Amino acid sequence: MTLAEKLGQLTMTAAGYAVTGPVIAGDSTAAIRAGTIGNLLNLFGADRVHELQRIAVEESRLGIPLLFALDVIHGHRTLFPIPLAEAALFDPAAWALSASEAAAEAAADGIAMTFAPMLDVSRDPRWGRSAEGPGEDPWLGAQVAQAKVRGFQGPELAAAQALAAVAKHYCAYGPVTAGRDYASVDISERSVREVHLPPFAAAVRAGAAAVMPAFTDLAGIPLTAHRELLQDVLRGELGFDGVIVSDYNAIAELIRHGVAADLPQAAALALNAGVDIDMMANAYRAGLPVSLERGLVQPAQIDRAVHRVLTLKQRLGLFDHPYQRGAVREAPATLAARRQLARTVAAQSLVLLRNERSVLPLADSPRCLAVIGPLADAAAEMRGPWAMTPDDGTQVTVLAGLRSALPATEVLHVAGVEIDGADRSGIAAAVRAVAQAEIIVLCLGEAAGMSGEAASRAHLDLPGQQRALAQAVIDAARERRTPVVAILFSGRPLVVPWLAEQADAVLAAWFPGSEAGHAIADVLSGRVSPCGRTPMAWPRAVGQIPVYFAQRPGGRPADSNNHFTSRYLDVPNEPLFAFGHGLSYGRFRLSNLQVSPRQLNERERLEVRVDVLNEGSRTARETVFLFTHDVLASVSRPLLELKGFAAIELQPGERGTVTLSVPATELRFLGLDLRPVFEAGEIEILVGPSADRRHLLAQTIELIDAG
Ligand code: GLC
Repeated sequence: MTLAEKLGQLTMTAAGYAVTGPVIAGDSTAAIRAGTIGNLLNLFGADRVHELQRIAVEESRLGIPLLFALDVIHGHRTLFPIPLAEAALFDPAAWALSASEAAAEAAADGIAMTFAPMLDVSRDPRWGRSAEGPGEDPWLGAQVAQAKVRGFQGPELAAAQALAAVAKHYCAYGPVTAGRDYASVDISERSVREVHLPPFAAAVRAGAAAVMPAFTDLAGIPLTAHRELLQDVLRGELGFDGVIVSDYNAIAELIRHGVAADLPQAAALALNAGVDIDMMANAYRAGLPVSLERGLVQPAQIDRAVHRVLTLKQRLGLFDHPYQRGAVREAPATLAARRQLARTVAAQSLVLLRNERSVLPLADSPRCLAVIGPLADAAAEMRGPWAMTPDDGTQVTVLAGLRSALPATEVLHVAGVEIDGADRSGIAAAVRAVAQAEIIVLCLGEAAGMSGEAASRAHLDLPGQQRALAQAVIDAARERRTPVVAILFSGRPLVVPWLAEQADAVLAAWFPGSEAGHAIADVLSGRVSPCGRTPMAWPRAVGQIPVYFAQRPGGRPADSNNHFTSRYLDVPNEPLFAFGHGLSYGRFRLSNLQVSPRQLNERERLEVRVDVLNEGSRTARETVFLFTHDVLASVSRPLLELKGFAAIELQPGERGTVTLSVPATELRFLGLDLRPVFEAGEIEILVGPSADRRHLLAQTIELIDAG
């Protein structure tokens, strides 16, 4: 291979189909024929892909096949709920299934790599990319990582429906300063290792084919140039031997970080840190020849990177079958079944935050129902952020879903206000609709573009004049004693305590994807009991952020009877809704917690059993969480650490038992030297429906040395 051909294999450029960053790309065809581009992103469609693949395979000197990559984040053409919504299922099998379905659909469009799963733990809903991730907890993030990697990649990476998974954004992107995307991150190594590394370690264990460093710097060192985290930790400690692909133009942006004077120096920093593919910066192609001349890098480093890229292409079957992805059109029945799965997953992602007087599910076929708000008939918004394929207009809106589910009901519709406009003139019509309806469904929240990348928000209330609309409708409904159900569409927890206190029911819908309206109607009508549990706490106020359950106690933990303790003068410390909160149409009582053995050594497993009774009148699914609290250790431990979850579905009056088994090694923590340690001593085992300690059953056992 010539140097130009080698650097081509280390280059990924956009082919102009979709822009996910500053537009730099030009026409790639000549470069493909010359062998100086080996990878493309943001181009899909079997015919177009095969057209370019044929140039690479049959017209270039070496015939090395192209790798086509795309952000398949929550579905491809069939859209599933956004990742934060899917996390609310707490169902690894469902996470893997939706990933494998998305992979099949993207592979049918010629794609061989997805820039997913996004594994950034986030405890800051100001950060718009919380929408793309697994929520606030590292253990949950690790479960998502494992399920998604296995779902995308399947048992055999060379299979026609398999996608190479890219675990991103490595690492500690979530705690950006002030929740502002791309801003600097400055946290302790302990936090990096305890909170942000575990999902990536799980992704590597699951066999993730690639990893993408974050745009951000960590304590002044950009991840794209972070030799210690990329070489010593990712490849060394975690044993990752796959491909590291930069984020979009991130290598060139080392210049803006202020750590590289020019492109050759930026390219050298990235290659020396172990980045194999340069996405969109043209830094390797244009910079590395100069880096070599300056002696900043060695030819062997380039060869090692090329070897990793070619190995991945070999593992994907691209050399043996360069046209297999996209060779077969999917059958209509397959697509229909996938839409049905998207409906099921979307329904299970909905989190019922409040349901006063059990106003939900709706009484059978109400005479008249008013659907009010700017998200009621907003098909495009249901797609959420990171929907990369053209909007085919097939998303089901709330209005359409309710009309389909309630054919005998008169369903009125008034948008009232825009999502983010200043005009309030439509509120009067909304108030008039209240007077005609037996129940009000308010559809409120964010536009899809208000979360995701480059979409941080400093205020987390409803945008535009939606609060004025909601208050007018609630006031009018209260006068008539008409129930109000509020549905919130967002890529993050919102700060809406005023709504939670006034609406009779509040349903967090996030962005449910293609089948949004049917899924919501399934839950509102009672055809499906809601079972989603929020994977991030919902703050009462932006000032509480970051608010999350795994906080350390500090030396003066909050005490309402003691002024000199850690609390606010103006709001409680607790979030509005805790991690794991979510109601169903059942009513569950947990009892008879059994924890064994009472003395546990590192070689054993912790066995936990708890009885669950459905005291409600409807069949429903309950998710039970297992937390631990190490009350005395050589390092101050979080008040709660998530170590397990399990679900059980029970009929009305039915009693069941949930069992959870946890290897004692999960109770290790990072000691003073940041190395894993299993310390003897007491540990609390807590089980319950959320991270709200008031509802947890607890027992204390003793960890003992294995002897
Ligand atoms: C974007 C995102 C990254 C995405 C990539 C390709 O800037 O940071 O998550 O995979 O570019 O679209």
